[in-house]
Amino acid sequence: MNMPEPGQRAPGRGPDGEAAARVRSATAQLATVRAAMLTDVSRVSEIEREAFSDPWSRAAFERLVVEHDPRVLFDVACLPDGKVVGYVVAWFIMDEGEIANLAVAPGSRSRGIGTLLLVRAINMARSREVGTIYLEVRDSNAAAQALYASHGFQEIGRRRRYYRRPVEDALVLRLVLPGP
Ligand SMILES: CC(C)(COP(=O)(O)OP(=O)(O)OC[C@H]1O[C@@H](n2cnc3c(N)ncnc32)[C@H](O)[C@@H]1OP(=O)(O)O)[C@@H](O)C(=O)NCCC(=O)NCCS
Repeated sequence: MNMPEPGQRAPGRGPDGEAAARVRSATAQLATVRAAMLTDVSRVSEIEREAFSDPWSRAAFERLVVEHDPRVLFDVACLPDGKVVGYVVAWFIMDEGEIANLAVAPGSRSRGIGTLLLVRAINMARSREVGTIYLEVRDSNAAAQALYASHGFQEIGRRRRYYRRPVEDALVLRLVLPGP
């Protein structure tokens, strides 16, 4: 079975789309998600620099691991060979959560890894009885917006010129989780 080229979007319908969907779900099923360790930070920083024009510093990721704040989720997705291909950072404070960072390595996108990481964060929020999760996303980031929309996030506002490099508005998205 042919794996999609890095960055290629699998068609949504038809025989090719079905094959691509199988590849996608197979990759995601083989991937595992675990807490990030100090030894993951180089790879995470590499993915971060490839994913964002205004990346978080390596020190910021290191701090997350070292400080080990129980309110913070910093998880990585790994392939069976151990290679880290994505990560998610979220924080949960009282009944509110925020997804602060989420990225997948360009060569591993469109294979369900982003979904795996997002679902992990949402499930963690549920287990901590968080009622609402917020996040910000670039106005032009259609891929991330589609991912969040498919998990029930809705746009509730816009922060004008929120991002740098390039300057761009942020959409504020919210997911309300049903109570117990
Ligand atoms: C956004 C991102 C994390 C998605 O990760 P991914 O592993 O490719 O996502 P998945 O394979 O799980 O795709 C899940 C859904 O996201 C959406 N999606 C993903 N890539 C897409 C693209 N290029 N165009 C449109 N929708 C896309 C689709 O709704 C997709 O569902 P589908 O496959 O049923 O169509 C990834 O593209 C990425 O790292 N981007 C750069 C960093 C970033 O923008 N992070 C989010 C910051 S708010």
